[in-house]
Amino acid sequence: MKRATMVQPSSTFVNIKKNLWVSLAIAVLSLCFVPINVSAAVRRHPPQQHHLSRKPSPKLRFGRNGEFKILQVADMHYADGKTTPCEDVLPSQVDGCSDLNTTAFIHRMIEAEKPNFIIFTGDNIYGFDSKDSAKSMDAAFAPAIAARIPWAAVLGNHDQEGTLSREGVMKHIVGLNHTLSQFNPSELHVIDGFGNYNLEVGGVEGSGFVNKSILNLYFLDSGDYSTVPAIPGYGWIKPSQQLWFQRTSAKLLRAYMSPPNAQKSSAPGLVYFHIPLPEVASFDSTNFTGVRQEDIGSASVNSGFFTTLVEAGDVKAVFTGHDHVNDFCGQLTGIQLCYGGGFGYHAYGKAGWPRRARVVVASLEKTEEGGWGTVKSIKTWKRLDDKHLTAIDGEVLWSKKHTGKVE
Ligand SMILES: *[C@@H]1O[C@H](CO)[C@@H](O)[C@H](O)[C@H]1NC(C)=O
Ligand SMILES: *[C@@H]1O[C@H](CO)[C@@H](O)[C@H](O)[C@H]1NC(C)=O
Ligand SMILES: *[C@@H]1O[C@H](CO)[C@@H](O)[C@H](O)[C@H]1NC(C)=O
Ligand SMILES: *[C@@H]1O[C@H](CO)[C@@H](O)[C@H](O)[C@H]1NC(C)=O
Repeated sequence: MKRATMVQPSSTFVNIKKNLWVSLAIAVLSLCFVPINVSAAVRRHPPQQHHLSRKPSPKLRFGRNGEFKILQVADMHYADGKTTPCEDVLPSQVDGCSDLNTTAFIHRMIEAEKPNFIIFTGDNIYGFDSKDSAKSMDAAFAPAIAARIPWAAVLGNHDQEGTLSREGVMKHIVGLNHTLSQFNPSELHVIDGFGNYNLEVGGVEGSGFVNKSILNLYFLDSGDYSTVPAIPGYGWIKPSQQLWFQRTSAKLLRAYMSPPNAQKSSAPGLVYFHIPLPEVASFDSTNFTGVRQEDIGSASVNSGFFTTLVEAGDVKAVFTGHDHVNDFCGQLTGIQLCYGGGFGYHAYGKAGWPRRARVVVASLEKTEEGGWGTVKSIKTWKRLDDKHLTAIDGEVLWSKKHTGKVE
């Protein structure tokens, strides 16, 4: 969320990065509680052993229908549940409307789409109005946990405004059931933010790509507010995070191009974080799908992450939240920049303009032998929280054909 609630960084924030070792130790400990109950698209796996240099096997994988479906939930702004009212709904909708409507919407989306994975792109809770950040998070993520669907979350700019710091919020998240969220890369001692990590999505069980990551998911902490006095406004993705991204992308490329089944170019990547990149402002209605109803709430400086993404070459789409009443996707230099669209009822919105969620499906091609191969296309649509969960704005974000087969 950005409207009217911009605050200066609190003095406590600058101290958060102290005790990084303690945080890492706790993060590693928390990883012992990885989900045991796994859905059809997730393979059973032992607790992660980060100190062994063995290649970790992918925990997420494409289903036997050759698809992997992701539900994006942006800006829930969850607070105290039933006692927390809805914002910006029609006068006739005010009575009986609360955070529980956000919960009901997630349940409906899960029922309708049966996603393989759920990604919460920040401002998951609205710290200012929450009495207890841990309880707010438990309630906010409860539908994903109850459905036993693996999920991941990144931080927005409001998650830390309650009883927990950003570090504390991310620590709590990684300890929850069925989450694949990680605190930060275990091999790095210094990185800005909390909740920078990547996940690999393996090929179909029984196919030639069972041991390969054929879709790569990256998650980053886009910060909250600038801590640099001379720079006003929101946070940005820092050089330390971009370096981690570059190295991770290069490592994944090497693995993908190695036998067995060595590929000639990178597997497609999707990136999720909260605050949109400044480049999102370069679109207008002639070159995006969806609507723009407010200014782009990016940082006031450009830290170059878009260029870093273009250089790496694997990322096909970036998904953010933050601006609740923008819900478009536009393509720039071969990368789709997409908003999820505001999801939560205690978040600002536009009365009469339904809350919404974005769905992304990656589909595999068949190999010459008739088995499942690598990713052929990535499609998206949104669903509105209306009577019929109306699906809108379906489009192909990326397709192997259009970019041409790499020789
Ligand atoms: C909120 O949930 C209540 C209870 O299910 C329902 O009656 C009401 O229509 C919902 N409000 C909105 C705006 O969806
Ligand atoms: C996590 O799930 C397991 C098995 O479903 C359950 O026994 C445990 O209490 C859950 N833990 C939390 C923190 O909810
Ligand atoms: C995948 O890895 C397993 C375990 O190492 C191995 O037995 C199997 O042959 C591999 N399959 C393929 C298609 O590479
Ligand atoms: C979108 O179209 C406008 C003209 O209507 C143009 O100025 C802008 O550069 C285009 N943006 C992109 C990203 O193609």
